[in-house]
Amino acid sequence: MSSEPIVEIKNLSKSFGKKKVLDNVTFNVYNNEMLIIIGFSGSGKSTLLRIISGLEDPDSGEVLLKTNHLGMVFQGAALFDSMTVFDNVAFPLLNQNKKILPEEIKSKVSEKLKLVGLAGMENLKPDELSGGMKKRVGLARAIINDPKIILYDEPTSGLDPVVSNIIVNYILKLQYELNASSVLVTHNLEVLHKVSSRIILLYDAKVAWEGTSEELFNSANPFAKQFREGAKEGPMVVIKE
Ligand SMILES: Nc1ncnc2c1ncn2[C@@H]1O[C@H](COP(=O)(O)OP(=O)(O)O)[C@@H](O)[C@H]1O
Ligand SMILES: [Mg+2]
Repeated sequence: MSSEPIVEIKNLSKSFGKKKVLDNVTFNVYNNEMLIIIGFSGSGKSTLLRIISGLEDPDSGEVLLKTNHLGMVFQGAALFDSMTVFDNVAFPLLNQNKKILPEEIKSKVSEKLKLVGLAGMENLKPDELSGGMKKRVGLARAIINDPKIILYDEPTSGLDPVVSNIIVNYILKLQYELNASSVLVTHNLEVLHKVSSRIILLYDAKVAWEGTSEELFNSANPFAKQFREGAKEGPMVVIKE
């Protein structure tokens, strides 16, 4: 891992009404690393990704992005159901100011579909795809502009363990093939076992714990322990949304 940050997140705070969702959150994402963000539902993970990607503004603090090439995989596949796989994947290319030739769009879409194991599926509609395939279309769309950083919001939620595993393998492959960094939001313990990464645990709007996957599963830290055991007892109050 290179020690150069590709994103510096400094003192981010964000509230919705009276609810403080992020309180002075600071961390870096380094070149070529996969950083994992965990935390119970409602802990601000999606908000954090939306702020990093520029979809949402923080109340204070800043995000220093060292690249303009950012891809985002949204929670749920978030495909346009009435559009083909081709149009879904090409979508970000058609919504930028740069002019791009139809042949170039075709070749980019085909190349990205190949990378996620969906070669030749351009003309299918989302309702003709399995859950795992939909997620892979979401991955292809996120990488259409060859991002240097890819943000994944719970990319394996709702998938069975076998399909989850396939998606994680694609995520690792994309990181490698695109020479990119990734920020992965997940609470999937299987994923955390498989991917050896730096982890940040969000709780009560703050970074409550930071460590490696190995530490998450072995550490006596009460936050790490409660998260891995999914226990009600511990420093974190679990609120069912
Ligand atoms: N646009 C919004 N307006 C009002 N409240 C929001 C909005 N987005 C998120 N929230 C609230 O902020 C908190 C954190 O949400 P979110 O970032 O989606 O959490 P997570 O992804 O960790 O489950 C939740 O309580 C959620 O209801
Ligand atoms: Mg979320």
